[in-house]
Amino acid sequence: MEKDQKGLTEEKLDMFEENKANLLTMGGTKMVRKQHDLGKLTARERIDLLFDPGSFQEVQLFVKHRSTLLGLAEKEIPAEGVITGFGRINGRTVFAAAQDFTSSGGSLGEMHAKKIWKVMDMALSARKPFVALNDSGGARIQEGVPSLEGYGGIFYRNTVGSGYIPQITAVMGPTAGGAVYSPALTDWVFMVKKSGFMYITGPDVIKAVIGEEVNHDDLGGANTHATKSGVCHFATESDEDCLTKIRMLLSYLPDSCHSPLPITSSTDSPDRDCDDLDTIIPDRTNRAYDMKRVIATVADGGVMFEPHELWAKNMVVAFIRVMGRPVGVIANNPRFNAGVLDVQASDKASRFIRFCDAFNIPLLTFSDVPGYMPGTHQEWSGIISHGAKLLHAYSEATVPKITVVTRKDYGGAYIAMCSKQLGADYVMAWPTAEIAVMGAEGACNIIYRKEIAEATDPVEKRKELVRSYEGQFNNPYFAANLGIIDEIIRPRDTRRRIVSLLEALLNKTEVRLPKKHNNIPL
Ligand code: HXC
Repeated sequence: MEKDQKGLTEEKLDMFEENKANLLTMGGTKMVRKQHDLGKLTARERIDLLFDPGSFQEVQLFVKHRSTLLGLAEKEIPAEGVITGFGRINGRTVFAAAQDFTSSGGSLGEMHAKKIWKVMDMALSARKPFVALNDSGGARIQEGVPSLEGYGGIFYRNTVGSGYIPQITAVMGPTAGGAVYSPALTDWVFMVKKSGFMYITGPDVIKAVIGEEVNHDDLGGANTHATKSGVCHFATESDEDCLTKIRMLLSYLPDSCHSPLPITSSTDSPDRDCDDLDTIIPDRTNRAYDMKRVIATVADGGVMFEPHELWAKNMVVAFIRVMGRPVGVIANNPRFNAGVLDVQASDKASRFIRFCDAFNIPLLTFSDVPGYMPGTHQEWSGIISHGAKLLHAYSEATVPKITVVTRKDYGGAYIAMCSKQLGADYVMAWPTAEIAVMGAEGACNIIYRKEIAEATDPVEKRKELVRSYEGQFNNPYFAANLGIIDEIIRPRDTRRRIVSLLEALLNKTEVRLPKKHNNIPL
């Protein structure tokens, strides 16, 4: 090459490499060591584990803050404290932002936020999932209001992208104050035990304002949010565990609401008998069994991926595959509080149903529910509007909806668990199903109160009436005779039926009234 054509001189190359290398060192050796000593990986190590090896392309590495306030003019913050870009996860493109706590505590200033806006905008136009790995001291205090503007722009993009692309947040360090609202606006929140915490106000402020004493972990650690508040869907053991589980979750999700579902090849048989299901229902109706066994038996290879495993355990939500296609399962679990519907169970199921519907994932419901939880606690917590969410979410969903009634299916809860009247495409019941307005004991106490009181032997009379009610209503036949359920099936045939129904409903389309959007009772 001629000398005068050689614009890329050694000097320019060296300068480029040196600049780049400086930015890649993050907050420096001391801060990186501190991060590791806390059992945390750095943002770059996290990105490396999240993405398929060598696939990550960094975006806007050279962006710098431009604040001169409170000593910032002299302060270098490598990569502005956040690594942004895109790469492949399980071979599919995903966009991500990972806050770097080693660089000024991953604090979010104007330009840090703009880097995040940039990859979120790219994810939205490319219609690909977005993953945020949070580890930050919050709004960069020295910069003032531009930091708040930065958060506002993230919240706006989280909302605009809601139901359009899957959005996932991993809380891998501090997330305090208003910063918690980006995770809450995304579809899935992962937290790392011991290092991730989220709260609106920290322990010191709480003590000063209301005198309550609580430590960081009890207030907003992964266990707290996974068991008490339900803010966290997945409480993970370590950074590595968290990143592996994010990859797993993404394997069930499409790139966007306009993209096909990720189908894998299944080695399971479409005709597999589920013999275990013939014996799973206990001999007495008030005995418990684990609905998760039913779900796993029906799923390809017995594999289920369960969000909210530790919260509202009376309701199970899970992703499974059936002949390689992702399916969202919603099920009462009689193992916990008899599988009753309460405020938390309704919220858990409703949000899951809306997520699946938004991303075209078919819904499979297993119902064994004694009713809504009675009592002042539930009434004053708003079971009326929370329970209504479930009715709304199921009715609004236009994806294929299949329901299997395994045992109790009483009253309003029967309607709520994806009955035909809420738009289920096909409802099946096992011979053990009891589809009735209420359980036999409660029903007889009300409708035969007088007869029981006036009988010579009230105890015997009551038993006789209960038996008669059970004979008439505690079975699936009355509902099947009226076409209120479509079929009664032997439990061991459940997977086979589901496989063929999902196939039959593959091209289901349902057109709803033209309007701006529903107004779900939030
Ligand atoms: C600027 C920050 C910062 C912040 C941390 N740093 N948080 N810089 N703005 N918000 C810097 C520190 O000055 C320090 O810089 C480096 O990050 C590491 O912080 P340390 O305090 O040394 O780390 P550690 O002891 O591990 O404590 C972590 C921490 C603590 C608990 C997160 O830093 C902290 O309490 N930070 C403030 C948290 C907070 O109140 N944030 C809310 C801001 S208001 P050097 O240069 O020494 O390395 C907010 C509102 C958002 O976020 C509203 C959105 C709607």
